[in-house]
Amino acid sequence: MYWLGIDIGTGGSRALLVDEAGRVRYGFTAPHEEMRMARPLWAEQRPENWWDAAQAAIRGVLNQAKATGRDVRGVGLSGQMHGLVTLDEAGRVIRPALIWCDQRSQPQVEAINAKVGKSNVVAFTANPVLTGFTLPKLLWVRDNEPENFEKLRKVLLPKDYVRYRLTGEFYTEVSDASGTSMFDVVMRKWSTRMMDRLGLDTGILPEVVESIELTGTVTPEAAEATGLAPGTPVVGGAGDQAASAVGNGIVEPGVVSCTLGTSGVVFAYMDQPNYDTAGRVHTFCHAVPGKWHVMGVTQGAGLSLQWFRNQLAPGADYDALTAEAAQSPPGAQGLFWLPYLMGERTPHLDPTARGGWIGITAKHTRADLVRAIIEGVSYSQKDCLEIIEEMEVPVESVRASGGGGQSAFWRQVLADIFGKRVSALESQEGSAYGAALLAMAGTGGFSSVPEACRAAVKEVSSVEPRARESQIYRRGYEVYKALYPSLRPLYGLIDGLY
Ligand code: XUL
Repeated sequence: MYWLGIDIGTGGSRALLVDEAGRVRYGFTAPHEEMRMARPLWAEQRPENWWDAAQAAIRGVLNQAKATGRDVRGVGLSGQMHGLVTLDEAGRVIRPALIWCDQRSQPQVEAINAKVGKSNVVAFTANPVLTGFTLPKLLWVRDNEPENFEKLRKVLLPKDYVRYRLTGEFYTEVSDASGTSMFDVVMRKWSTRMMDRLGLDTGILPEVVESIELTGTVTPEAAEATGLAPGTPVVGGAGDQAASAVGNGIVEPGVVSCTLGTSGVVFAYMDQPNYDTAGRVHTFCHAVPGKWHVMGVTQGAGLSLQWFRNQLAPGADYDALTAEAAQSPPGAQGLFWLPYLMGERTPHLDPTARGGWIGITAKHTRADLVRAIIEGVSYSQKDCLEIIEEMEVPVESVRASGGGGQSAFWRQVLADIFGKRVSALESQEGSAYGAALLAMAGTGGFSSVPEACRAAVKEVSSVEPRARESQIYRRGYEVYKALYPSLRPLYGLIDGLY
């Protein structure tokens, strides 16, 4: 007997089969088409392509396991957050989805702030409205494509479109709804106050449930298309970050995660919906029913190292690069890296911020350049952690995940910079794994999400902060924190040049 977790990512869709003990058994990824970037700040994908990829991934994983649909007891969905899927009267996609990294909607963000009031937006949704979130994308369609807006009957998030194709039902769940700017994160329901003030009809929104609740069952057509059995239950699931947190066992106070993928996310569980009044971190509903989470986001985490490799060390693999970094001493001989390659979310909320090394001298080597990148990204994750601690969210230890989290060297740098124990986990599957565990908690495989995590998520190793290195990094962090405010006046000037 298996449970199926499906993650609709940006690069591809992944299907994962998990057994009765919550152990990962098989995984299959089907790639997506490249996202379309018709203009520099635009990013679109075709929802129909996600559904094609999801079908291929489900078929692929069933084949791998030599299983049939009848062996699957429940399905959980996870996916890239914030994207806008628009459907017409007949449930057809009206236009390609504007996805999470699409930044075209700054005018709509300003219009929302002017109409609703910046402080009301935070009071109604627990977060500021950001260009990445769904509501300004919807208003962009209203302002720029009235013929499409006219046809609009339903708005869905990416994974919820796949749910619609699987079950024929319009549902989302609280964690993903939290990133739309249309959701009252405190009350866990759509915000009629936001919708009314903007003249939007709440009827365009899907029904919203908790992450482990049932949202329908696989239809005969979808069964035909995927190999699943008709009638298989599909639970709410979660946005990719909350799902990944379930996969990392971040479902109780005290342990937070640091996920170093393209972006870097520090994620903490909260019993109560506390939020940062400056909106520097996101306060969203968790996939644990009735609970919340807070997360800080570094836009260019793994991306910083990827950029370095592609531009300056072609062909080098990441293990070789981190081995090279280890030859440089802690503090990289006074060299600093600012990871603002895609602007920055936490703590600066500044799309114009730019990255770079500061403090370079003729004695620096390539090892120092790489070490500075790893340290700079880690300082930036400490920025996230500090705000979370300022909010009095307890942080006893950190679980590292994502590509960067797999490096023992990087985990030690994180421990020294955070001043916390940092551990690695047995399963690195993240979001798809979390989605499968939510399916288990929702269909009787486990009695609750925390119980699923206690049984299935295991730390395999951990490192403690070292005294001498921590001392060096405490002084380094003071310098790092002073760099952005000194450079900020220049970013606008640089922007104006090109
Ligand atoms: C979360 C976020 C990303 C996307 C894409 O706020 O923007 O995690 O969900 O993965």
